[in-house]
Amino acid sequence: MTENSMPAPLVKMRGITKRFGGVTALSNVDLDAYAGEVLAIVGDNGAGKSTLIKILTGVYQPTEGDIFLDGEKVDFSSHADAITRGIDAVYQTLALADHLDPPANMFLGNELTRSVLGVTILDNKRMRSETERVLMERLGVTLKSLDAPTESLSGGQRQAVAIARAVYHEGLRVLVMDEPTAALGPQETARTLKLIQTLKDQGLAVILISHSLDDVFEVSDRVHVQRRGQCVGTVRTADSNTQEVLGLIVGAEEAA
Ligand SMILES: Nc1ncnc2c1ncn2[C@@H]1O[C@H](COP(=O)(O)OP(=O)(O)O)[C@@H](O)[C@H]1O
Ligand SMILES: [Mg+2]
Repeated sequence: MTENSMPAPLVKMRGITKRFGGVTALSNVDLDAYAGEVLAIVGDNGAGKSTLIKILTGVYQPTEGDIFLDGEKVDFSSHADAITRGIDAVYQTLALADHLDPPANMFLGNELTRSVLGVTILDNKRMRSETERVLMERLGVTLKSLDAPTESLSGGQRQAVAIARAVYHEGLRVLVMDEPTAALGPQETARTLKLIQTLKDQGLAVILISHSLDDVFEVSDRVHVQRRGQCVGTVRTADSNTQEVLGLIVGAEEAA
């Protein structure tokens, strides 16, 4: 594809700088993410990966720089703002209420209700069927149980619930995943990578933060490398290799 026939990026971050008091976490970072693409973000601890995506998801506000969504400048003053515009995240910690069952987690804070003789009550039946439907239709996942506390599910299934909650929002266009496989065994990791592929095929822009270059090379289309708060390179996964990406992560002078 020539430069001109490339679709426009769905997300453009430009000149993003973030300072926490005297600490510069990010310095003049640009990032593009495309619909139907998995963009990996890699870098050592402290390189600014989490801060960058927290800015994209409205958790932090940049000290300097702009975010464009479909070419339109956006300003998120909260994570809820970003969700409204179709950008959500699934964190390693998952933020699930472990003692509640999967449908309760799916609809936490957004419970479906129905009216019986003028009284509003929870529509547990519909929350259950919607949970089942989203898991199956969007993620191809069937849970062991919809009635048991979420803590009784495997790590991979818990993650599916967290992802289902994000994709239930019809307008979701960008899904950020921060270290989704860090706590998973090999089998569950493979399932999660398949899930990421499924979401990409549905046209989402998936942004994957990962320490595992194996995962990154298996599932991503492009890799954005952060080092000491700066983007030190973006490569096409198909044109690159672990060695090159490691060199960027560590820095040429250290690698030499
Ligand atoms: N809330 C914060 N307050 C102060 N410093 C922070 C805060 N969050 C991150 N930092 C600093 O910003 C830098 C980047 O951190 P982070 O984005 O978490 O990196 P990564 O996710 O790549 O490990 C680090 O030096 C970290 O200590
Ligand atoms: Mg981090």
